[in-house]
Amino acid sequence: MPTAKRIKVRVNPEKCQGHNRCKALSPELFELDEYGNSKEIGDGTVPPEFEDKAWLARANCPEFAVEIIED
Ligand code: F3S
Repeated sequence: MPTAKRIKVRVNPEKCQGHNRCKALSPELFELDEYGNSKEIGDGTVPPEFEDKAWLARANCPEFAVEIIED
């Protein structure tokens, strides 16, 4: 049986300017640091039920800072 594919989110710290859309859309996947910049929670692994939110967050970051890693 094929194993389910998991995706991960990652915030590129060099691109993030703290627009906060990622966290507003997907608070389960992103947290803000003390400067208001975003970071993936934990190792960024996205539970299947939040995959849509991960893609939405990526699509809505004006700095293209949200990356999605597909294994
Ligand atoms: Fe940063 Fe983009 Fe989120 S700029 S705070 S990763 S919406």
